[in-house]
Amino acid sequence: MRSYLVTGGAGFIGSNFVRSLVTETDASVTVLDKLTYAGSRANLDGLPADRVRLEVGDIADPAVVDPLVAKLADEDGVLVHFAAESHNDNSLSDPSPFLQTNVIGTFTLLEAARKTGVQLHHISTDEVYGDLELDDPERFTERTAYQPSSPYSSTKAGSDMLVRAWVRSFGVRATISNCSNNYGPRQHVEKFIPRQITNLIDGIRPRLYGEGLNVRDWIHVDDHNRAVLAIIEKGVPGETYLIGADGEKNNKDVVQAILRLMGREVDDYDHVADRAGHDLRYAIDSSRLRSELGWTPTYTDFESGLEQTIGWYRDNEDWWRPQKALTESKYAQAGQ
Ligand code: NAD
Ligand code: DAU
Repeated sequence: MRSYLVTGGAGFIGSNFVRSLVTETDASVTVLDKLTYAGSRANLDGLPADRVRLEVGDIADPAVVDPLVAKLADEDGVLVHFAAESHNDNSLSDPSPFLQTNVIGTFTLLEAARKTGVQLHHISTDEVYGDLELDDPERFTERTAYQPSSPYSSTKAGSDMLVRAWVRSFGVRATISNCSNNYGPRQHVEKFIPRQITNLIDGIRPRLYGEGLNVRDWIHVDDHNRAVLAIIEKGVPGETYLIGADGEKNNKDVVQAILRLMGREVDDYDHVADRAGHDLRYAIDSSRLRSELGWTPTYTDFESGLEQTIGWYRDNEDWWRPQKALTESKYAQAGQ
């Protein structure tokens, strides 16, 4: 039975990761999560209490982190680091928590890994590479230069650089993954796809930033998490792997697919103020992950993954309803 310490395991991707781990392996999991606005106990509901324990605390606090990582090292366990401030729009209105959690928090975990020799997997984003032109034939690879645009992506780039430096200077046993845009159950209603689905449930028209031509490379959260597990089990320490499922779509096409699947007219949406510094296009070349670790995505049909996700939000209004009004009032202040 393998032990895992999962930071951010009460958030969107982290909680789905913990669910997969518990369902598909005999792992025992400690979740370290501060339960910010983006994390909730409900995300871990239904999991067996003898295998999943939630420790509420801050990854930037060594008094919390050090004993948990020391215990993990005694059990020869793995530290999987999802915790972050994750939303670009929030990073534009107040960057400060992004510096604290994404940079200082990652530094605190790295220091604990350095002292104990524990294995670490660091979860990151394709946004560290900046953006591509719509007609650029190239996609991001493990060799693409870092060029982050937003306060969020620059703090994630900083955290990746810290991991690389701790690997090289101190021999920390770490791997890094940079993934594209995730969708699926339990994603906060501030994010693009859940915002539009829950708007439509509430009879509000979807909101497209600017012209809606920005492209994101969509991947189902379960495919992301299967790749993370493959990297933990088979990845080479010190290496970086890009995770993506060839899911490029522009935002207008995504909104129109949601409208169609929810039985509405495809032009039933509004254009709103664009995001400052809005990245135009992300696109991942995941050849390395596929050829070296044998990973392939299982959600190859975006519309059926989207339909399943719409069903989840329809069936779980109790989960998202408490966050909806506050989220929309913040967007209204920004003209979005
Ligand atoms: P999320 O915002 O849904 O969840 C983040 C979790 O981290 C929450 O549970 C929150 O309470 C916790 N957290 C925040 N600050 C903390 C702190 N100081 N100490 C302890 N816990 C803290 O985020 P997500 O979308 O699930 O993203 C998870 C990770 O994946 C992040 O590192 C993000 O950069 C990365 N990522 C996300 C996507 C995506 O599309 N969502 C894509 C690629 C990479
Ligand atoms: O690429 C990976 C990244 O994907 C992750 O690192 C981030 O944590 C995650 O939040 C996501 O970042 P984005 O900024 O791409 O995701 P978001 O859901 O905020 O927006 C997706 C696209 O939709 C983006 O082009 C902005 C646009 N958008 C967003 C909202 C909320 C709209 O057009 N309307 C909206 O209402």
